[in-house]
Amino acid sequence: MKTLVLANQKGGVGKSAVATLLAHHLHRAGRRVLAVDLDHQGNLSSILQRSNRALSAPVTADALLTSARVDVPAGTFVLVPAADALLGLERQPAQHTPFARNLRAFLRAQAGRFDVCIVDTNPNPDIRVIAALASADFVLSPIQLNQEAIDGVRGLLHHPRVGVHKIRAVLNPALRLVGLLPTMVEATPFQKANFVEIIRHHQSLLIPIGERAGEFAFIPKRSAIAEAQAHGEILWEMKKTAARDAWTEVEPTMRRLSDIVFAKEDEHVA
Ligand SMILES: Nc1ncnc2c1ncn2[C@@H]1O[C@H](COP(=O)(O)OP(=O)(O)OP(=O)(O)O)[C@@H](O)[C@H]1O
Ligand SMILES: [Mg+2]
Repeated sequence: MKTLVLANQKGGVGKSAVATLLAHHLHRAGRRVLAVDLDHQGNLSSILQRSNRALSAPVTADALLTSARVDVPAGTFVLVPAADALLGLERQPAQHTPFARNLRAFLRAQAGRFDVCIVDTNPNPDIRVIAALASADFVLSPIQLNQEAIDGVRGLLHHPRVGVHKIRAVLNPALRLVGLLPTMVEATPFQKANFVEIIRHHQSLLIPIGERAGEFAFIPKRSAIAEAQAHGEILWEMKKTAARDAWTEVEPTMRRLSDIVFAKEDEHVA
């Protein structure tokens, strides 16, 4: 099982939307998907619950950190939903090491039961994010193309607690940064200029896509995506043409992310 964590200390950048799209895409592609919602706001939980595709585990995500042994039901698409108790974990510093250890043990125990675990996180850089990154194979960072987000890119790498460099150095040398995924991208001059700035300063962190050099994975801003999120609908199943058009734009990015996550395994199998 490969574990991918959505992380960015900025709120509202599209973490939960990307987690949702990717979870549904991988499930449709025949992967056994475990979704874990570490954000007490529970956006991913309510969206997946409304979609009626994922089976909700009887345990909530806080238990994955607080309990040494937690079982979730088997299935092709299982959600471990959020709970308010997630908010209290940061306030128990003496337990932080066991919390990280418990989550790692849980994920290891799921290895043969699921193909992929997608972890949605809260924007605050706390023990939930640290524990997730400490046990993950991959971290993917959705970003918005505004100046504040671009300034925040350094934090993704260098934050003293949850920066990728720190996590790799101290907790998880194998953590791989899939990259920055610009989300809610609009074809405005302002966003285009910011995209150019990101390419200039952080090209190696973007996710190349397609045949041509200089093309990178991104998610456009589309009202159909916001609607799908609001109603728990699956983008490509929505009746509106706009939704199907949005899916046509998003699908190459989902395929690319899937290829990255499963690259080694599939090569190995082949
Ligand atoms: N590509 C998109 N096009 C249009 N709206 C989007 C898109 N992605 C996300 N949204 C909307 O933007 C809002 C914020 O997105 P989302 O909840 O995914 O961000 P987040 O990073 O998970 O936020 P938080 O930090 O609060 O967890 C939501 O209302 C969502 O529906
Ligand atoms: Mg979210």
